[in-house]
Amino acid sequence: MSDKTLTLDQFRTLRKDTWWKEPLMVVLVLGGFAIYATWAALQNAHYYVAPYLSPFYSPCIAENCTHVSVPLVGSWWNLSPAFLILWIPGGFRATCYYYRKAYYRSFFLSPPACAVRDASKSYSGETRFPFLLQNLHRYFFYLSILILAFLWWDTVLAFQFPDGFGMGLGTVVILVNAILLTLFSLSCNSCRHVCGGYVDSFHSAPTRYKVWGFISRLNGRHMEYAWVSLIWVALTDLYVRLLSMGVIQDLRFF
Ligand code: FES
Repeated sequence: MSDKTLTLDQFRTLRKDTWWKEPLMVVLVLGGFAIYATWAALQNAHYYVAPYLSPFYSPCIAENCTHVSVPLVGSWWNLSPAFLILWIPGGFRATCYYYRKAYYRSFFLSPPACAVRDASKSYSGETRFPFLLQNLHRYFFYLSILILAFLWWDTVLAFQFPDGFGMGLGTVVILVNAILLTLFSLSCNSCRHVCGGYVDSFHSAPTRYKVWGFISRLNGRHMEYAWVSLIWVALTDLYVRLLSMGVIQDLRFF
């Protein structure tokens, strides 16, 4: 039996439905996002047009930024400032419990779907490098909350036009982005554990019980928030980019 036949054999399943559609969609959307985000970060241009800052470059912490949020990194940094920041939301999503399931199935075929055989013959779980790094998820969550605070600050600034207070379509795009990323972050399993973990009895911690209940309800929709916020954050960058390039005009409401 050839190696090729052996590989095809590994996908033999009794399932008759289109189980392969979901992993294929994940490859297309997640793969497409990764390519777009890398391309946008490499551009090092068209990420700011007053008063809008692309979330891929926020907070902009290098002196070489078009719009500096906090000047933390000196002029020695001459690469795209996006690379100073993107590893945080990138690490947060890469170590997310939901995304792990999605990309293990789609990219590693491990397993591609329920009742479909694993592509790999061996299984070591997350006990070896680099998968051991998945344990850092909680720390990425803490860092992401910091990034989120800057994104909300950018949202406030998105109302401050050069000619004064106002609101444009870009303001709405940036506001929706901050809301979706907040829902994604708050619905995180680590957030749920931070709010409700380490408590022996909720009876003596009624406030934490309420917060935990609220986060748990959000947690039930974590998958939806993960996808919608992922797509919206890319669209937000695209909107700012096209505005900055002069391809489109912002719609100003007042
Ligand atoms: S962001 Fe998905 S589980 Fe934390």
